[in-house]
Parts: sequence; structure tokens; C-alpha cells
Amino acid sequence: MNEFTYNSNSLYCENVSVNELADKYGTPLYIYSRAAIEGQIKSVATAFKEVSPLIAFSVKSNSNIGLLSVVKQAGAGADIVSGGELYRCLKAGISPQKIVFAGVGKSDEEIAYAIDNNIKLFNAESMEEMAAISRVAVSKKASANVSFRVNPDVDAKTHEKTTTGKKENKFGIPYEKAVEMYMAAAKLPGLIVSGIDVHLGSPIYTTEPYVAGINRLLPIIDELRKNGIPLKTLDIGGGIAIVYNDEKPFLPAELAEVTVPLIKKSGLECILEPGRFIAGNSGIMVSKVTYVKKTGYKNFVIVDAGMNDLIRPAFYGSYHGILPVVKNESRSNLKADVVGPICESSDCFAKDREIAEPLHGEYLSFMSAGAYGFTMASNYNTRRRPCELLVHGNKVSVIRKREEWADLIAGESVPE
Ligand code: LLP
Repeated sequence: MNEFTYNSNSLYCENVSVNELADKYGTPLYIYSRAAIEGQIKSVATAFKEVSPLIAFSVKSNSNIGLLSVVKQAGAGADIVSGGELYRCLKAGISPQKIVFAGVGKSDEEIAYAIDNNIKLFNAESMEEMAAISRVAVSKKASANVSFRVNPDVDAKTHEKTTTGKKENKFGIPYEKAVEMYMAAAKLPGLIVSGIDVHLGSPIYTTEPYVAGINRLLPIIDELRKNGIPLKTLDIGGGIAIVYNDEKPFLPAELAEVTVPLIKKSGLECILEPGRFIAGNSGIMVSKVTYVKKTGYKNFVIVDAGMNDLIRPAFYGSYHGILPVVKNESRSNLKADVVGPICESSDCFAKDREIAEPLHGEYLSFMSAGAYGFTMASNYNTRRRPCELLVHGNKVSVIRKREEWADLIAGESVPE
């Protein structure tokens, strides 16, 4: 996390002291680095420059409109999965012609909203959905660019909850039926059949699944060309992994080295959908130690953030580095579970983690929290969702203020 480094034992985000931000804005607190986001986008763009891809940032990883506006200014577009994400992208000024829409369950309302806004492409995941897009487009006397997400039955060797490209997963159309389904889709009114798409899972630590995935699509692309359905775009999805602990993921340049020749062979325009790679190590979550509880059997560091603020450890058993915001070399190490205040045993960020023993009131930074952090946060236990800050050099912008008590019951009412 290059933009989060210690300066005289104090953690900084770019040129700003995290300790001062936590004092000023309170905790739990998400902090993102603009330079980090831009740097990650640039590294993907540079690696793939030979095929000048559309980098469609996967909005599910971080959907704050302040962050999306940085993504937009860096030249990227968006991969969305809901009408809500489309709304956010439009508010952030992302051109609809850089937006691709994925997901197995798009509703008529969402399809209509996307057609009204003239998005670049729908990645459809079933014949039923293709028919729905056709029906909605015809009702609006419009035409929609569509592609099928093909399930290539390739194992991306990722977490069972986030693997998507195997035939037992709900995603995409069956590989064997792809050509037949394309031929049928080409006959539907209101559609311009123009692309093919694959997304294998997330996070993916090696390049082989991408190569295998694209290699599975090439014969389909050829077959369709022969049948008078020339495609325009090849979307190879997201999934590029990041370092959370001591993993050794590939670099974008290594992915480009093995995939660009295949992309060129396809003759199609390339779309990439990285989310985690752009946002993950561009953000941290800061929390304050409430108590250090020693039971004699176990030690617990209880912090003011809970699984509602960062659910990845509870949900997937994910590892997040936990570092002191201000290092104190005189502290000895403590082996402890780092836990939140939520009334669930799964409200645990780390089990038996060795950390420098913190004191009540000190801040801890949860690293690699920029992707699937705030976007998966909830109000469980009626907790206010955190504040989000964007740092740019010395400049700090509040891109989402901390929720207030009143926000917690907004829209609710007591019946007469
Ligand atoms: N494209 C599609 C169609 C996807 O389903 C996803 C992620 C992406 C792109 C972006 O993947 P990325 O580049 O961010 O790895 N909540 C989980 C991750 C779920 C990912 C779902 N789909 C987590 O916290 O690890």
C-alpha cells in the first residue's frame, strides 16, 4: 500500500496524518488515497495499452460517487450490477458509453433505466434475460447493445463464495449452448448482438484461468463470425488479486503478456472489469480501541468498528492487516482476537493475531479495505455507517459524512 506509509512512526495517507484525520473525523473511518486509485488504473492501462481497453471499474467494490469521479477523471468507465449503481455512475459523471451492465437478475425497471441512458452494453446471463432486454427495447423503440456472459467452466481457484466461472455457478450461459443461444438472440428485435463476456471469480492469483477462459471463447467468436454475427467486444471480466497478507499475485503487465496476444487474435475491442485491484489497497478503515479484555484464557482487543463496517473477515474469513496508527516501539506484542462490538461471535476481524499491545483510545488501521469495505457495510445493530474521506496530497475531502441517528430511521414510520 504505497500511499499508506509511516513517517516518524505515524501512519500517513499521502501527505496527511491518519491520526489527525481520526481525531478530527472520528472512527470508524474509511480513508482513500486518490494517488493510489489513479496509480492502479494507470498500471492496468499501461499494461494493456496495445489493445487500448475500456477499463470498466467494478462499482460493487467501491461505489462512493467521490471515488467514482476520480475513476472517471482517470479515463475509466464502469461495470455495474444494478440500477442503483447506474444512478451513482451518472451522478459521478461517468459517460454511459463507458458503462457495462452485468448480473443474473436485471429487472425490467433496471433494463429500462439503462436503455433510457444509452449504456454501452448489457452483459446478459440467460435467454430469458435477453428476451426481456429485447421486449423493453422494443417498447421504447430503441435498440440495445448486448453480449452474453459465457460460463466457460474454468476453475479460477478462488474462495468458494466468490468463484463464478464453473458450471455449477449461477453465472453466465452454458458453454455448449452458447452459439445456439447467440443465433437465437440475433433474431430478437431491439437487440444489437455485439459482444462476448467472461468473469471467472475474484480474487484470482494466477494468470492461467484468464488464458483458459479466453481460449474457450475464441472458437465461439469464430463460429459466430462464420454465421454472420460478427462481434465487437470481448470482456474478460475482473478478479485481479491484490496483496492482503503475503500473497504473490501477478502484475497487470504479466496478465497482459499472456492475454493480449489472445485478445488480438479475437480481433475484438477489449473490456476489463477490475474492482479490487483499483480500490482494495487504495483504502484503509481506521478504528479506535475501546477495551483490551484479558480473560486469562484469551485476549480480546475490542474496537469501535464491527462486522457491519467491514464484513470480509466475518463473511469469508478474509485476512486484513491490522496496524497501529501510531507505532510505539516500547510496546510488547499481544496475541489477541481483534473484535467488534456486534452481538455475534463472527464479529471478529482477526483470531490470535500478534499485534503491538494497544491502549484504550488508540487507533488501529485495517489495511486493504478500499474494496468491498464500505460497499458491504450495513446498519446491523443499528449502527451508523462510517464517514469516508478522500485524500489528495495535503487535501482532504469528506466524500460521505458519518450517518446521524436520524439517518438510521429515515423512511420509517410508526403506524397511526
Ligand atoms: N465483473 C463481474 C461480473 C463481477 O462479478 C465482479 C466481482 C467483478 C467484475 C470485479 O471483481 P474484482 O476485480 O473486484 O475482483 N465481496 C467479495 C468479492 C465479490 C466479487 C463479486 N464480483 C470480496 O469481498 O472479496
